[in-house]
Amino acid sequence: MDRDTKGLFAPLDINGRIVKNRLAVAPMTRITATADGRATETMTRYYERFARGGFGTVITEGIYTDQAFAQGYIHQPGMTDEAQAKAWRPVVNGIKAHGAVAIAQMMHAGAISQGNRFRDSTVGPSAIQPKGNQMTFYHGKDRYAVPAAITEEQIADAIAGFAGSAVRAIHLAGFDGIEIHGANGYLLDQFLTDYANDRTDRWGGTTENRVRLIVEAFKAVRAKVGNAVPVGVRISQGKVNDYHHKWAGAERDAEIIFGSLGDAGADFIHVTEFEAWKPAFAEHGPSLMRLAKRYAPKAAIFANGSLHNIEQAVAALGDGADVVTIGRGALANPDLPKRLLDRHALDEFDPAILGPIADIKDTELTM
Ligand SMILES: Cc1cc2nc3c(=O)[nH]c(=O)nc-3n(C[C@H](O)[C@H](O)[C@H](O)COP(=O)(O)O)c2cc1C
Repeated sequence: MDRDTKGLFAPLDINGRIVKNRLAVAPMTRITATADGRATETMTRYYERFARGGFGTVITEGIYTDQAFAQGYIHQPGMTDEAQAKAWRPVVNGIKAHGAVAIAQMMHAGAISQGNRFRDSTVGPSAIQPKGNQMTFYHGKDRYAVPAAITEEQIADAIAGFAGSAVRAIHLAGFDGIEIHGANGYLLDQFLTDYANDRTDRWGGTTENRVRLIVEAFKAVRAKVGNAVPVGVRISQGKVNDYHHKWAGAERDAEIIFGSLGDAGADFIHVTEFEAWKPAFAEHGPSLMRLAKRYAPKAAIFANGSLHNIEQAVAALGDGADVVTIGRGALANPDLPKRLLDRHALDEFDPAILGPIADIKDTELTM
């Protein structure tokens, strides 16, 4: 493997946390928690091997944030009480033991929840049936339910859920930082998405209004965890139930979305596209990571999307990204950073790794 990967191994300071390299594990739901949302020994071993394999940062799967409407999947882990938070401790210790930074992803599923042990019904910005079908992969079937339009009081509860869970993640579980899941079609992204949100109040209409809930969730988390903790937000155009969605306002939307997160003080913004290097809108225009850097210049930009293509990962560092996050490539190569350093070839992603999801093979665990 003859490529110059030096740039991927430069350290970076993210609000006082030094990440030892630019390679991070992307958040990946694995539905391997107990039925009541506690992290398991299998998860400890699953996460630890990425840190042992040299990743500088490990971002967890989406963790649900309240005991009302946040849970998306059966066997998804939560951070909603002390027992759930403390169950993460061995996971976090395992990540940190190898010098990696541990970031907890906070997620509210909203209208695309397909498994919630606290509720049979869902909420979204508006009573609009989500596009697409539930993921069979995560034990779903058929269409998503039509959500109830979330009330002001429930919005306040959802925001408080993000903030309370973030505090538990930092103080009880020991995480280094927080990522708010504002992407991929979950509640915060539903508010941002024009066709999912027809509210006429301050949470709907203009892009400034539709991004407000993401910003408010960020501010509430920041207020609770303080300025010294790295807090970031994940943003996407595409969704698990609508891969090809594009922001109607194109670069002007990017300016509003990334600009408001930058102004609010996001330490990092994590953008995800199918192929991170592709133009975000027009055929020859800038990538989403470039736009994030342009409009939030003080935030570290985490870029995601097929960056197991290492030439593209290296190139991303010159196109606005500060850190590259790797999903499928990390499942196939939990020791991807070590392989790069040792100039060993990478394994191709085999979708069989994902099924059955809760069964991580011992051979994978010993890598
Ligand atoms: C099994 C699996 C589970 C995922 N779960 C999450 C998740 O919980 N939160 C999230 O933000 N993205 C999730 N993603 C998306 C990944 O973070 C990433 O965006 C996607 O895999 C594309 O990156 P890649 O090309 O490096 O794989 C998941 C992806 C996979 C393959």
